[in-house]
Amino acid sequence: MAFEQQYSICFLLVLLPLPFFTIAQSYKNISLSSSITAQEDSDPHWASPSGEFAFGFRKIGNAGFLLAIWFENIQEKTIVWSANRNNPVQQGSSVEFSAEGELSLTDIGTGKRTNIADGQSRDTGVAYAAMLDTGNFVLATRNSTYLWQSFDHPTDTILPTQTLNLNSSLFAQLTATNYSEGRFKFVLDSGGNLTLYTMNYAFKSTNFPYLKVQTGSGFQVIFNQSGSIYLIAQNGSMLGDPVLEDLVSTQDVYQRATLDYDGVLRHYKHPKNTDSAWSSYSYIPPNICTAIQEYTGGGACGFNSLCKQEDSAHTNCSCPPSYIHVDQDDERKGCKQNFVPQSCDKASSETDLFELKELKLTDWPGGDYEYFQNVSKEQCKQSCLADCFCAIAYFNEINSACWKKGIPLVNGRIDEDVKGLAQVKIRKGQAKEKGSLTLLIIGGVIIIISTSLVVFIITHLVSSHAKVSRLNPGVQGMNLKCFTFMELKEATNGFKEELGRGAFATVFKGVLASDTGKYIAVKRLNAVVKEHDLEFKAEVSAIGGTNHRNLVQLLGFCNEGQHQLLVYEYMSNGSLATFLFGEPRPNWNTRKKIALGTARGLLYLHEECSNQIIHCDIKPQNILLDDSFTARIADFGVCKLLKSDQTRTATRIRGTKGYVAPEWFKSMPVTVKVDVYSYGMVLLEIVCCRKNYEPEAPAEDEIILADWAYDCYKQKKLHLLWQNVGDDQEMDGIEKLEKYLMIAFWCIQEDPSVRPTIKKVTQMLEGTVEVTVPPNLSSLYVQYK
Ligand SMILES: *[C@@H]1O[C@H](CO)[C@@H](O)[C@H](O)[C@H]1NC(C)=O
Ligand SMILES: *[C@@H]1O[C@H](CO)[C@@H](O)[C@H](O)[C@H]1NC(C)=O
Ligand SMILES: *[C@@H]1O[C@H](CO)[C@@H](O)[C@H](O)[C@H]1NC(C)=O
Ligand SMILES: *[C@@H]1O[C@H](CO)[C@@H](O)[C@H](O)[C@H]1NC(C)=O
Ligand SMILES: *[C@@H]1O[C@H](CO)[C@@H](O)[C@H](O)[C@H]1NC(C)=O
Ligand SMILES: *[C@@H]1O[C@H](CO)[C@@H](O)[C@H](O)[C@H]1NC(C)=O
Ligand SMILES: *[C@@H]1O[C@H](CO)[C@@H](O)[C@H](O)[C@H]1NC(C)=O
Ligand SMILES: *[C@@H]1O[C@H](CO)[C@@H](O)[C@H](O)[C@H]1NC(C)=O
Ligand SMILES: *[C@@H]1O[C@H](CO)[C@@H](O)[C@H](O)[C@H]1NC(C)=O
Repeated sequence: MAFEQQYSICFLLVLLPLPFFTIAQSYKNISLSSSITAQEDSDPHWASPSGEFAFGFRKIGNAGFLLAIWFENIQEKTIVWSANRNNPVQQGSSVEFSAEGELSLTDIGTGKRTNIADGQSRDTGVAYAAMLDTGNFVLATRNSTYLWQSFDHPTDTILPTQTLNLNSSLFAQLTATNYSEGRFKFVLDSGGNLTLYTMNYAFKSTNFPYLKVQTGSGFQVIFNQSGSIYLIAQNGSMLGDPVLEDLVSTQDVYQRATLDYDGVLRHYKHPKNTDSAWSSYSYIPPNICTAIQEYTGGGACGFNSLCKQEDSAHTNCSCPPSYIHVDQDDERKGCKQNFVPQSCDKASSETDLFELKELKLTDWPGGDYEYFQNVSKEQCKQSCLADCFCAIAYFNEINSACWKKGIPLVNGRIDEDVKGLAQVKIRKGQAKEKGSLTLLIIGGVIIIISTSLVVFIITHLVSSHAKVSRLNPGVQGMNLKCFTFMELKEATNGFKEELGRGAFATVFKGVLASDTGKYIAVKRLNAVVKEHDLEFKAEVSAIGGTNHRNLVQLLGFCNEGQHQLLVYEYMSNGSLATFLFGEPRPNWNTRKKIALGTARGLLYLHEECSNQIIHCDIKPQNILLDDSFTARIADFGVCKLLKSDQTRTATRIRGTKGYVAPEWFKSMPVTVKVDVYSYGMVLLEIVCCRKNYEPEAPAEDEIILADWAYDCYKQKKLHLLWQNVGDDQEMDGIEKLEKYLMIAFWCIQEDPSVRPTIKKVTQMLEGTVEVTVPPNLSSLYVQYK
């Protein structure tokens, strides 16, 4: 009866056109045939009766949505459980609690449906689901027997009243922002051992135990409400001391115990009804940096790195001098040498080029390959300098012992207990400070300068004192306005109208009331990526110093804590991409003008502004059009953020598929010629009014525009292309078409040194330099795979 009644009430609620949250709050029991859908900006969810926990979709960065349980009443909305941590789903995906009582997640991207309540088959009598006030999400029968509960399937967190049972584990997430299964595991195994393990990431196998909490006879880990987490035996008696303990008053604080991405298991508390943060008093192991000392694996922070326990809540993973992180987004991938290592071919002659830098309280225990007794510090040092295998000479004064260590260095730590002296071998004259380096490319030569120098230059450019700050007087015409966040929020009507979106930023349309209704484009950098501060400053400095009619003009910026925004003139005619590939087909004269304007904008960036700028991402989406359809290049300044990553992998490539020059894929220096290449691709698109890659093309050999156009050109069948563009009255004959194609073929030559400079391209377009027959083109198919 109760069931019937409730069913009808819910039914009624569904019929009423109430806003979603009203329904969410009215539900305490979730009835069969309910569902929620992942949506931007709304965290759709089913709340617990008190409203303290929620079950639903949470957007995580740009990666998509997690179906998760989280603390709903605190600012951080900390996630405590998730169904799909390794596979975030996209907007529009849904979770369904079906008429048969099945709980399933449907990924709109792949169409795949996953049963969340594993082992819970249909028709077992599930009558309702509920998000409980404990943080447990349950599927229950009519008599409230739980057939499935999230508490039995923890991810990285347990909550008060939750137990960790035999043969279950907590798996740390990968990084602060990546929720997928990472490098550490807390296991109560079937033999009753309670252990913290490092993992053989990215495999799911365990590597080594770094803390054995209990060996044998464990049965269950209990988290009681007063803040004690302890292990019991099967007979119910407590084994040893509590694993974690911080006795608290249940009514006043929220609690959780989480195996964090740094490998530390922490008990956390958070006062209720305040905007304060989680704090941690009790945690294991006491020092993660020294707890992990393994035969294989990189230690707590990855190979070549240094681990330091900063305080109860933080582990700091840093790199030795002249080393940099392999991946800024995942420090635990370790560090690499930011210099060319000593050559073994001519070790003796290179000895002079290296020096040893002393580091106190620093060691990399394990992985020594040579050991000397009874030597002086100087001998230890000289031995390392003369040895091309040596990366570290570790010297212990007490027994005059010297150890040599090679790459990769393991188990690195900074710790008070380290007795000896570590000496890091670095190439002389390298950047002195830690942190990432920036490539500046000047006159075709790559110059590595330190990030702090860039920051220095920029902080001198951007004076934060004055509202309207005059930037470096050396840079002509640089007059940027410093906006407040509120001003920009108002100008964009709360960031309402989106103009475009990239990996790092979203662009909104706005209007400046203070400037007689002038339209602006506000680029808001995402808050999630750490490098933003630099990115922001780099872009301000790069763009602030430029002023050309074929570049989008930067008007000002806002840099308030989390908020980093750039304000540009608004380009009323959108991007070349929409113009070129839309209907009706734009006329030839306008296209010709755009082609020349783009080349002139690039010429300015490459040769005429005070600091040479390589754009790195020339494509129709980044060429905007003003009222008079003049081409204006946008989004430059990105390239300055290039890391000094000699080994560029595909993911690090700056640029967009189809427009990216081949040298990005090879270990060749990146020069201004990468822009010439991309420009060539865009020129082909402008000439042919077609995308450079068109999988739906009528014939297979027409799919890749460059290949097709080149075939037509070689086989003197330009009329085939002409059919695509030739209905334009103004197109001045097939010879003109040929000339533009030839310029483009010059630009997309595989060998960068064969490509013309953008200056020469401009002259060819203007007709002041003759266009000669371009060398043969190799097929471009590889690039599109
Ligand atoms: C949830 O449903 C069960 C079974 O129908 C019922 O006993 C219980 O009172 C309901 N709880 C709430 C809060 O509606
Ligand atoms: C998390 O990291 C893994 C491994 O590097 C990667 O495959 C995955 O895409 C990342 N997920 C998110 C949400 O960034
Ligand atoms: C509750 O329902 C389950 C399954 O429907 C059944 O196995 C169990 O015996 C019931 N318990 C009570 C107390 O009625
Ligand atoms: C422990 O869990 C694993 C994986 O879920 C399973 O294969 C194994 O049979 C379980 N062992 C015991 C003793 O329950
Ligand atoms: C538990 O630990 C003991 C002692 O280290 C070990 O012999 C045993 O294999 C472990 N049990 C499991 C299931 O790993
Ligand atoms: C929780 O466990 C501790 C012992 O570890 C005990 O002192 C405390 O009374 C327990 N609290 C509750 C609510 O059971
Ligand atoms: C409970 O089990 C543990 C471990 O198996 C044992 O040490 C302890 O003596 C037992 N206690 C009681 C009261 O049986
Ligand atoms: C991490 O440690 C390094 C080296 O000790 C230090 O320079 C840096 O400031 C620390 N970072 C944080 C966030 O504490
Ligand atoms: C160390 O060297 C000194 C002087 O050369 C020598 O007297 C001593 O025996 C050596 N000790 C060891 C342990 O080799």
